[in-house]
Amino acid sequence: MYLPEKILTNADLEKTLDTSDEWIQTRTGIQERRIAQKDEASSTLGANAAKNALNDAGLTPEDLDLIIVCTSTPDVLYPSTACFVQKIIGASRAAAYDISAVCSGFVFGLSIAEQFVKSGRYEHVMVIGAEVNSRIMDWTDRKTCVLFGDGAGAAILKRVESSEPSGILSTHIHSDGNHSDFLIVPGGIGREPVNNDAVDNKMYCLKMAGQSTFKMAVKRMSEVSVECLEYNGLTTEDVDVVVPHQANRRIIETVSQKLNVPLDKFFINIHKYGNTSAASIPIALHEARESGKIQQGNLSLLTVLGAGLTWGAAAIRW
Ligand code: UT7
Repeated sequence: MYLPEKILTNADLEKTLDTSDEWIQTRTGIQERRIAQKDEASSTLGANAAKNALNDAGLTPEDLDLIIVCTSTPDVLYPSTACFVQKIIGASRAAAYDISAVCSGFVFGLSIAEQFVKSGRYEHVMVIGAEVNSRIMDWTDRKTCVLFGDGAGAAILKRVESSEPSGILSTHIHSDGNHSDFLIVPGGIGREPVNNDAVDNKMYCLKMAGQSTFKMAVKRMSEVSVECLEYNGLTTEDVDVVVPHQANRRIIETVSQKLNVPLDKFFINIHKYGNTSAASIPIALHEARESGKIQQGNLSLLTVLGAGLTWGAAAIRW
C-alpha cells in the first residue's frame, strides 16, 4: 500500500465545517484521513503501492504481463492512469488499462485478473486500487467530505499449481444501474461538460444519497458474501477474516450482525483512512497481512458495495 503523508483529522475539519469529531466518530468510525499533496495523483500513489508490491513479491517490473488500475479519480480523462503507472515503474512488457467500478473497483479488477491467470494467458497480473478522492470533494458539504480519503493498494496475482483449492477461490460481481444516482459525480465531462454552470453548482464533486446507499451496502454486501461462500461449499463458520470495504464502521457492524460473523473477525482500519474507494480493500488486505490477522492457510472474504451501484465478493485461501 501507499498513503500520502498529509493527515487531515476530524479536529482539522471542525475548523472549517459545521461538524464535530464526536458526530463523525459516532456515525462513521472515522478519526482521520490522508490527503494527497499537489504533486501527487492516483498514478503516483498507485505506482508507489505497485513498487511496494513488487518488492514484497520479489518480482521486477519486467515480470508484469498486465496492470489493471481501478480508480474513479483518474489523473486525466485519457490516457489511462494505468499507462502512467506503467511508465513510472518501468513495466515495459505489461499491457495497462483502467477499470471503473468506483469502491467495488478492486474486487472487479481481481475478477478480471483471476480469469487471465486461471486461463493461463498471463503469468503475473497486477491489480491496483488508487484514489485521490480529495480532488472530487465539495469541502463545504459535511455530508460527504468528512467520509473520504486518498490512498492506494496493489496486489500481484501469480499462477501456481496446487493440489488443494488455494489462492483466489472465486470472485462474484454485480451491478444495478437503476441506482446510479445514489453516488454520482454528475458533471465536468460528457453529459455536463465543464462550463460556468457546472463549476458554480460544483457538478465535478461527489453527490451522495447517504441513507439509501447505507441500506443497499448492508443488503448487498451480506447477500454477495453468502453467495460467494455457498459457491465454494463453505459457510460463515469457515471464514477466518472478513476484509470489508471501509465506508462506514456502522455498515461493517451491521453486516457482521446479518452474517452472524463476530465483529472481531472483521479487519477494520476506517478510523485511520476513511473511505478510500477502490484503494480501501487492498490497503486493508495489506494491513491485515502485516498485522498477522491473516495467516497462511486462512480463508479471507472480501466484500464491497460502491457507486453504480456495483457490489462484489471474493474468497481467498492464503
Ligand atoms: O463507498 C460507497 C459506499 N458509501 C457508503 O456506504 C456511505 C453510506 N452512508 C453513510 O455512511 C451514512 O448515511 C452517512 C455517514 C453518510 C450519514 O450518516 P446518517 O446517520 O445516515 O446521517 P444522516 O444523513 O441521516 O444525517 C443525520 C443528521 C442530519 O441533520 P438533521 O437533518 O437531522 O438536522 C445531517 O445534516 O446529521 C447531519 N450531518 C452531520 N452533522 C455533523 C450529516 N453530516 C454531518 C457531519 N457533521 N459531517
